[in-house]
Amino acid sequence: MKIGVDYYPEQWDRELWKADADLMARTGVRLVRIGEFAWSRLEPKDGEFDFTWLDEAISNFSRHAMGIVLCTPTSCPPLWMYETYPDIVQVGADGSRLQTGIRAHRCLNAPMFLYYAKRITEQLAKRYANNPAIAAWQIDNELESYPCTCEECRGLFRDWLIDKYDDLNNINAAFGNIVWSGEYSDISQIQPPNAYPKAWQNPALCLEYSRFSADMTAKFANDMAMIIKRENPRAKVTTNTLFSENTPDFYKLFSNLDFVSYDNYPPVRLTDDEGMSSSHAFYLDMMRGVKQKNFWVMEQLSGPTGSWMPMGPTPRPGQIKGYALQAMAHGADTVMHFRWRTANKGAEMYWHGLIDHSNVPGRRFNEFAELCRIAPKLSVIETTELVSDVAILYSHDNAAAFRIQPQTEGFSYFEQLRYFHAAFSKYGVNVDIVPPDSDLSKYKAVVAPSMYVYDKNSAENIYRYVIKGGTVIMTARSGVKDPCNNCIMEPLPTVYREMIGAEVSEYDPIGKEEQTIVDFAGNSYKCRQWCDILELGTARAYAEYRDSFYSGKPAVTMNRYCSGVAYYIGTVCHMDFYEKFAGNIMKQTGIPRLKDLPKGVEVTTRTNGLDDYIFFFNNSEQEADITLPKAMFSILDDTEKDKLKLKPFDMEIVRK
Ligand code: GLA
Ligand code: ZN
Repeated sequence: MKIGVDYYPEQWDRELWKADADLMARTGVRLVRIGEFAWSRLEPKDGEFDFTWLDEAISNFSRHAMGIVLCTPTSCPPLWMYETYPDIVQVGADGSRLQTGIRAHRCLNAPMFLYYAKRITEQLAKRYANNPAIAAWQIDNELESYPCTCEECRGLFRDWLIDKYDDLNNINAAFGNIVWSGEYSDISQIQPPNAYPKAWQNPALCLEYSRFSADMTAKFANDMAMIIKRENPRAKVTTNTLFSENTPDFYKLFSNLDFVSYDNYPPVRLTDDEGMSSSHAFYLDMMRGVKQKNFWVMEQLSGPTGSWMPMGPTPRPGQIKGYALQAMAHGADTVMHFRWRTANKGAEMYWHGLIDHSNVPGRRFNEFAELCRIAPKLSVIETTELVSDVAILYSHDNAAAFRIQPQTEGFSYFEQLRYFHAAFSKYGVNVDIVPPDSDLSKYKAVVAPSMYVYDKNSAENIYRYVIKGGTVIMTARSGVKDPCNNCIMEPLPTVYREMIGAEVSEYDPIGKEEQTIVDFAGNSYKCRQWCDILELGTARAYAEYRDSFYSGKPAVTMNRYCSGVAYYIGTVCHMDFYEKFAGNIMKQTGIPRLKDLPKGVEVTTRTNGLDDYIFFFNNSEQEADITLPKAMFSILDDTEKDKLKLKPFDMEIVRK
């Protein structure tokens, strides 16, 4: 397992480079990521390239046998390019062009930007693709699905729509443009959604625009990767991704890249809300699920965050090391810390790295050094992966559609995913988060929260899984929309109704109000946000409402369908419900559970088929005591143990 750092040679004096590399080598750093913002130094003038400093920076690290993650610098075009081609800057939804002097503001579709982006990428690839020091390539930095509305994007969007729908009549019908007399009579009338007011925009248009920009972002990454691979087909190419307002479609973005890498900034302060506190395990599992393979962390929390927001608290003792190991527990094979030293200039000077402005390595650095010291002991888990009995389905389309129409006060697609993830995780099992059209046959239980926008492949996939004996858990707001984001004219959950064996006679979007449901065993729980009032067909009630005019009506149902079972949760609850529910599902489906894990302790297992390695991570601020079912060998301190005492954010890894 490799530990690395993100480094900005262009931001520091040469004298520091050598001292930094020496200290990195002594500390045990194995990889250094460089170059993602350095275009103006690589091409100071149009067509004039300067790679001498980069050669030097690379050998500064490679002479210590550190590998390099070389980035393409396309996130920050130099100012000379904007001067000559001002229209390479993105245009916002309100029609105004973004200002220069920041980053990531170039339009990925602007022809002149693309011309230069391809050229600098090709230049870098030609010079370094076969350099043995280059361990991997990072395309750009945190590519998003930018909602750019420039002329070029408008034109491409029109082409994209015509390509998909053939002609304007089909688009008019699919978008329901007759509503508010929005019918297109000429292709030039097609416009991306504009700013005001957002809620007045046609949801069909909005979803297609979001899909279009996701496609364009993936195309950009793919085109750049091809340029690198042309020079060196064996190059390992990735891009570092994130969750943001314009989250890219991970599945598309990485479809042609070699591996996923993720920028991981777990929370420093824990909350009492368990759905939230285990959220970083959730995001890590989601990253592993994108390619259903192990992944890298390209940026890892190293100090107080800040810069464009008020500064947050400094990582607590244990978090620098513990969170890096937590990422490995969920499938990261490499963790790179952002960043080696905190910037003392520029907008990001308060987003702290491992070493503070003082350049005196302190507490956080020492903890990082300890992480580097133990990393070689983890080599035995290098060939291991996570195998899970439980999967949660994540759909980018659904996430985008819920962003366009947030349903009711407090309703959150991600919150539902996180609660299910936290609930199953409490029993110490691995959980996969995978696309709805992936192979489900290996899972004993599949949670398919709010399958909102109909997708034929996904729906058939879920049916197939249940028909063959699988157990699926669906939730409210499933089967609501057709693929164009229009409401389906059938009783909910429409396409899933037959499998669910119940239908929604009416719904009550209660928002932040709370009501009560009671399950078959008499346990009562608070519910919120949404209440589907269900009428039973072949299904049985699992829980009923206790309030309002629908008191006594089913809120949660269970239906045997072919050889499988389909549950439907027509409301949104709190953790107590999901925990109990997950426990029941595990009992029903024969998934082994660890019981009585101390609060906050996360358990995952990586296996190579012969040996299982169990990770116990204390993601809490209290000490945790765990009794193991038998004595097991700790790979961190080479001893047999039958009891674990974990300090806050401590990790133990034992061989089963
Ligand atoms: C992102 C970016 C980095 C840096 C960090 C911290 O993850 O990729 O360049 O800006 O955030 O702010
Ligand atoms: Zn654009």
